[in-house]
Amino acid sequence: MKQPNFDVIARSYRWLEYLSLGMSLERCRFHFLPQTHSCRYALVLGDGDGRFTAKLLAANPGIEVDAIDISQTMLALLRQRSEQASDRLHTHHADARTFPYGSEGKSYDLVVTHFFLDCLTQPELEQLIGCIAPVLAPEAFWLISDFHIPRGPMRLLARAYVRSLYFAFRMLTGLETAQLPDYFTPITEHGFARIASHYSLAGLLGTEVWQRRADNLSPRRSHQIS
Ligand SMILES: C[S@@+](CC[C@H](N)C(=O)[O-])C[C@H]1O[C@@H](n2cnc3c(N)ncnc32)[C@H](O)[C@@H]1O
Repeated sequence: MKQPNFDVIARSYRWLEYLSLGMSLERCRFHFLPQTHSCRYALVLGDGDGRFTAKLLAANPGIEVDAIDISQTMLALLRQRSEQASDRLHTHHADARTFPYGSEGKSYDLVVTHFFLDCLTQPELEQLIGCIAPVLAPEAFWLISDFHIPRGPMRLLARAYVRSLYFAFRMLTGLETAQLPDYFTPITEHGFARIASHYSLAGLLGTEVWQRRADNLSPRRSHQIS
């Protein structure tokens, strides 16, 4: 299993993002932040340089975060950004595809994957969801931001843009994934339902809140979320 090397772009990642899509990704990441106020144990995968997690820790003083990333430099940036809440942040320099999730002994009520699932192939994504599901609380939330190929006139342009992004990441980090995986099917099969969503740039970017359905409870009745 080849591991991509995001260390080489970790420090410039933020600026590359702002240069290419302005503040659009930032807005996506933070869109549903207020809805995480009731969460206590978060698992953040492919955390990156910590811009989201620092805000999550600041906005929610009761939350504890396990953040996993394959890049040491990304994790160092995350720790710098979250210094004020270092006692509630546990960083793991690891490959999310092989991390022993049960070893932390926690029942997570929030999973966060902002622009991370697109680093995985379809089989890797399905395996990851299968490994995480057993360590999640019955009504856990899953916050997902990612690129999408919209229907309609923007389809071809979006396809070309996503293809060029994968090419750039392959050149810069050695990422082998070359197309967006389908998370909708496996996450639904593991009992999650999408309860809120927001799309931008004509559907190219999406951020969604999913919730695991507790037995005999609909997601909307079982937890407050708007
Ligand atoms: C495209 S960046 C997204 C970063 C951040 N979540 C964001 O919102 O911008 C992907 C992140 O996932 C990490 N990553 C990629 N593959 C990984 C893997 N297999 N296990 C853990 N982290 C991984 C990279 O180091 C990088 O920080």
